Amino acid sequence: MVDRIGTGVMRVHGEAQMRVRHIAVLGSTGSIGTSTLDVVARHPDRFRVTVLAAGSREDDLFSQCLRFQPRYAFLADPAAAARVGRRLRDSGSHVDVLSGTDALVDLVRLAEVDTVMAAIVGAAGLRSTLAAAAAGKRVLLANKESLVMAGPVFMDAVLKGNAALFPVDSEHNAVFQALPRDFAGDIAGSGIRRILLTASGGPFRRALPESLDAVTPEQACAHPNWIMGRKISVDSATMMNKGLEVIEARWLFNAPHERIKVVIHPQSIVHSLVEYVDGSVIAQLGNPDMRTPIAHALGYPDRIEAGVERFDLPAIGALSFEEPDPRRFPCLGLAYDALREGGSASTLLNAANEVAVASFLDRGLPFPDIARLNADVLAEVPATRLASLDDVIEADARGRRAALDWIGRRTRQAAATRMRAGQR
Ligand SMILES: NC(=O)c1ccc[n+]([C@@H]2O[C@H](COP(=O)([O-])OP(=O)(O)OC[C@H]3O[C@@H](n4cnc5c(N)ncnc54)[C@H](OP(=O)(O)O)[C@@H]3O)[C@@H](O)[C@H]2O)c1
Repeated sequence: MVDRIGTGVMRVHGEAQMRVRHIAVLGSTGSIGTSTLDVVARHPDRFRVTVLAAGSREDDLFSQCLRFQPRYAFLADPAAAARVGRRLRDSGSHVDVLSGTDALVDLVRLAEVDTVMAAIVGAAGLRSTLAAAAAGKRVLLANKESLVMAGPVFMDAVLKGNAALFPVDSEHNAVFQALPRDFAGDIAGSGIRRILLTASGGPFRRALPESLDAVTPEQACAHPNWIMGRKISVDSATMMNKGLEVIEARWLFNAPHERIKVVIHPQSIVHSLVEYVDGSVIAQLGNPDMRTPIAHALGYPDRIEAGVERFDLPAIGALSFEEPDPRRFPCLGLAYDALREGGSASTLLNAANEVAVASFLDRGLPFPDIARLNADVLAEVPATRLASLDDVIEADARGRRAALDWIGRRTRQAAATRMRAGQR
């Protein structure tokens, strides 16, 4: 099964001539979504936007609809969807605006859609990404959570649906570019010793652990190199993002976790590397701009203009690399623990992390508690078998419940401590 999973990624090598691609951009109002539309707009001869889908940013979606005139638009918020629909009709536009989970899945499955940019953030993106894979689309995968939550189920859908899967995450896109052209999921047989994923180390690479208690969401979201959505920015600050990427790489490239290594590279110029048994190491470099991997995935096998600033090696000067410190970044180790445990452990970890990050962004949990909560949920909730979407949804729900319980306990403890301090 696994070999053919690799084939799913590579199947398109033989794809012949350029034809106009009809795209559904899921998460169109987000960081990846807007970068995707920026690249698409540079190539009106290659791409038509058929579906735009977002959560609740109705003004942004409205403007995108006016500009790209898709056939359909989607907002998760039904009231907002109805308002955008009215505004579009009033401005003479014929875009159908829908809402509801089933509607999004139906849009992804439309025969006229051949390419799906899966860029909804978090577990909310799972069903639509899975539907795109099962329907045999070209799936440009930014929503790493789909693979983290549902690795075996998702890759099975890719295989059965005969979908072509392209990594959009810059690291995995870099690995994809550094792999042999005919790679079919056989790491050892392809002479690959290791996959090296680079990580910037985020905004707290040098921070003293005791200083992290007072970190604000604004500080955690101020990534030194990349402009990203808030959730992934916090994940970068804890390095949970790199942990999720290790899990993503395990499934995308059929790589055992012992062959995936993370190295800190603060400049974010080398996006990842593949080390071969003969000692060769092939890296992909570029400016830290997501339009590069997006354009690579959109245009594949062609190379297309992405609007990215020209690469200037002398101006960059020096590139440096260091080992990640496991005490500073415990979330990275948790991802390896989840892979070792197998089954739904990665699903539980992802669910716990989403709850923890949302609480931190809401000024609930302090920053260091994200890692503590993740560790406790992973240790306390037993992993179960993952064979179907229902199994994934059940494990996700258990992880979320355990995380909310953890926050409840933590809040009560903190209140009791405050009360005792007040009595003294
Ligand atoms: N940003 C990056 O550089 C980067 C790099 C690699 C991978 N990724 C991955 O790409 C994905 C998107 O990241 P991002 O940084 O672009 O996030 P983001 O800026 O927060 O955007 C998230 C998008 O998802 C939409 N959304 C949220 N809930 C939804 C729902 N229930 N139904 C439909 N749409 C929904 C949001 O819509 P509204 O805002 O309108 O609510 C928004 O368009 C994540 O999985 C992330 O890990 C991102």
